[in-house]
Amino acid sequence: MHDDSARSNQPLAQRRRLITGLATGVAGMAVPGWLAAAGLPSMTAGPFYPSPEYRARQLDWDADLTRVGTGPGRAAGEWLDLVGTVVDRQGRIIDRAEIEIWQCDVHGSYRHPRGAGARVDEAFQGFGSSVADAQGRYRFRTIKPAPYPGRTPHIHVRLRHPSFGEFTSQLFVDGEPANAGDFLFRQMSADEREAAMLRLARAPADAGVKWLAERPLVVPV
Ligand SMILES: [Fe+2]
Repeated sequence: MHDDSARSNQPLAQRRRLITGLATGVAGMAVPGWLAAAGLPSMTAGPFYPSPEYRARQLDWDADLTRVGTGPGRAAGEWLDLVGTVVDRQGRIIDRAEIEIWQCDVHGSYRHPRGAGARVDEAFQGFGSSVADAQGRYRFRTIKPAPYPGRTPHIHVRLRHPSFGEFTSQLFVDGEPANAGDFLFRQMSADEREAAMLRLARAPADAGVKWLAERPLVVPV
C-alpha cells in the first residue's frame, strides 16, 4: 500500500485574471446544477509523480498513454478515451490549462524509479501531458484504471494555469466496488466524489478503444 494521495490543504492561488469564457459555460449551454457546488478534491501528487529529470530520460509523454513513442507495443488493459473541458466552479471555461495524468499499468506498476512492481507493461506510458485548447477541451487516451494494492483504481491528475497555479487531484471509476473501502475516497464529500467520478460508456467500436469517459475537470476556484 502506498500513501500517495494524502489530501492537501494548501490554499490555491487566487489569480483569476486569465480565466476566460462565459458564465453560461460551454457553447452557451446552461451550467449544470451540480457544477457550482462541486469541485475536484485537492490531493498531493504522492510518491509516484515522475520528476522532470526522470521524464527527460524517456521517449514520450504525450496524451496517448497506450503506446510509448513509435514503438510497436500497445498497452495492456482496457483502453479508455478520457475527454472533457476544464472549468472553474462557476462553469467558466479555463483555456489552455496544462494537464498531466499518471496511473499504474495493469500489473500495478508506476512509471517511476520506485514505482515498478514485479511486472511492468513497457508499452504503457504511465504518465501523459497535454494542453487544453482555447475552449478548455482536453483529451487523453489511456487505460481503465487498474487495481493497485491498498487502493481503489484511480488516475492522478494535475493541472496548471496562470489563474490558479497548480492543482492536483485524482479521478475514480463509478461503480468500482473498492471505492467504498478506499481511505481517500472515504474522506471525500458527496460533491467531491461527483466531481472526481468517471462514468465509463462503451466507446464507438473503432481503434480498439473500449471505454469513453467525458469528465469536466472542475477546478475549485
Ligand atoms: Fe496512486
